[in-house]
Amino acid sequence: MTKKAVDTIDTDKYPHVNKGLDGIVAFSSSKSAIDGDKGELIYAGYNIDTLAENSTFEEVAFLLWFDRLPTRKELDELNDQLVAERHLPDTVVNYLKNTSKDAEPMSVLRTATSMLGDFDEEAEINEPEANFRKSIRMTAKMPAIIAGFQRARDGKEVLAPLKEGSTAYDFLYMLNGERPGEKAEKVMDICLIIHAEHGMNASTFVSRAVCSTQSDIYSAITGAIGSLKGPLHGGANAAVMNMLLQLDDDADVEAYIKEQLAERKKIMGFGHRVYRTIDPRAKHLQKMAKELAEETDMMTLYNWSEQIQSVMKNEKGIDPNVDFFSATVYYSMGIKTDLFTCIFAMSRVTGWTAHFLEQAGNNRLIRPRQLYTGKKNLPWVPIEERS
Ligand code: CMC
Repeated sequence: MTKKAVDTIDTDKYPHVNKGLDGIVAFSSSKSAIDGDKGELIYAGYNIDTLAENSTFEEVAFLLWFDRLPTRKELDELNDQLVAERHLPDTVVNYLKNTSKDAEPMSVLRTATSMLGDFDEEAEINEPEANFRKSIRMTAKMPAIIAGFQRARDGKEVLAPLKEGSTAYDFLYMLNGERPGEKAEKVMDICLIIHAEHGMNASTFVSRAVCSTQSDIYSAITGAIGSLKGPLHGGANAAVMNMLLQLDDDADVEAYIKEQLAERKKIMGFGHRVYRTIDPRAKHLQKMAKELAEETDMMTLYNWSEQIQSVMKNEKGIDPNVDFFSATVYYSMGIKTDLFTCIFAMSRVTGWTAHFLEQAGNNRLIRPRQLYTGKKNLPWVPIEERS
């Protein structure tokens, strides 16, 4: 029997390509579980509803890294570590101040996160303890990167992080230049909780795939940020807002959506590979979006969102995902549209790093096959004779 070439598939064993890796179980993980029919999301044993109602983002980070909730002492220690790691290296701050003001914020976050590795003495130490410390560092520093770039491109002073307060509190302070109220901090904290982890999504897959080559954790998270940026993944929240903002005050929203659907266009913030009902995270965001819209006199925006939700249900039987109502939540909080995906990333870094640590602990190189569809054994044609 002849040995098969590396990428040649045994078509009896691998009869077809699973486009988008649909239905492929690539890893085992204790980090999260999704029941797409029930609309249920669990982080390491805890339902997302329970966590949104009771926990904090820092507690969720601990849960994802250690598969259990922290004791009071452990949570205090983690909070202290996160606060101690918030500051950015001067070179990164200078980059935020000097890069193009027109740069896409997710691209800036990707570059700055990659730069962090240059200033981390443990960057190339691929041991579990060092990787955990680097996970804390990236989680602690990402809010300062996002807020710093926003202020720099606005021509404002880049603020140093606070030496106290939650991640949500410090982020809003660094972004707005004033300490947030209790309500704003709570809303941001819930947003961070519900974006932290979500099964084998594209960016998490990237984090694990980079880890599987025994590359470093900064490379993995840099890659994951690049993957989250796309509009079919985390970038959908900004796309939702752009869609809402281009509607006129007297817009016929139903007609607009039907027109888009007739042209076979995707409506951003709807649909999901796994959920066959409403994304459980969208329920929390919808509630917050409504409350905030009432408080900030932005009910037109919220009402349009509800109309779109109902047209999508009637026309396509498709429900909103996490990105649909998060757009209105952030917008009502006065956050710039192109920062929405960055906020997703500053939460999801906990899930990405948790998966990296898990993959590193039970690694095998990620190396799928491809089905070759090209030609074979073509004769060589000298360049002068090619047409
Ligand atoms: N608007 C209109 N039609 C849709 C949508 C949508 N948002 N989503 C799915 N469909 C239709 C699609 O046209 C197709 O219909 P048909 O079978 O008639 O051609 C069918 O539903 C299946 O769609 P698909 O794109 O093959 O499904 P998928 O599992 O490959 O894609 C998805 C999932 C999330 C990429 C897709 O629903 C989508 O593009 N949604 C809009 C972008 C978005 O909101 N992304 C955020 C996802 S959740 C947060 C995250 O993970 O980051």
